Amino acid sequence: MPIKIALFASGSGSNAENIANYHSKSSVFEFPLIISNKADAYVHERAKKLQIPSFTFPREVFLAGDEIITLLKEYEIDYIVLAGFLLKIPTSLVEAYPNKIINIHPALLPKFGGKGMYGQHVHQAVADAGEIESGITIHYVNGNYDEGNIIFQAKCPVLPTDTPDMIAEKVHALEYEHFPRIISELWG
Ligand code: GAR
Repeated sequence: MPIKIALFASGSGSNAENIANYHSKSSVFEFPLIISNKADAYVHERAKKLQIPSFTFPREVFLAGDEIITLLKEYEIDYIVLAGFLLKIPTSLVEAYPNKIINIHPALLPKFGGKGMYGQHVHQAVADAGEIESGITIHYVNGNYDEGNIIFQAKCPVLPTDTPDMIAEKVHALEYEHFPRIISELWG
């Protein structure tokens, strides 16, 4: 029986698409649904192209936890991958999927993590701090932002002349390279 993974994404969803494409020829994983908290997120367009049903849970409904858990159980979801998902995961969902939810963060945790640290905010903070390197962190999700056990990190150099957009590009390249592979190593 294939392992069923739900992909969660709040915005563009390029990581979600990359993961689904990478594993599309495998019989190990299935991606039966994509969840977003934004009805107008571009990830819904990607979901259509991938022929994966996508659902929107407004913030309050998502944070209440019950409806999302019911949907995930209906689809017999085994694991959850946060691929650019910006809401905190409610405790009830963490408890329903213990050590079965992973997140990708676009920096080297524990630096540049926590509430408000997402997407461009992270890359801006890295540039402002004059860091000489950044990277990605894949970690388990617990009840606090960006604090679960770290599974994998990869680094890229940051030059003094790099803009936040340039850092984002390097970090995205690392995400595309490693995230789908780490999913296989963990659960395949
Ligand atoms: C990714 O860079 C991901 O690491 C980041 O959002 C981006 C989503 O891009 N996640 C966070 O900042 C979580 N704190 P995408 O929608 O194109 O995959």
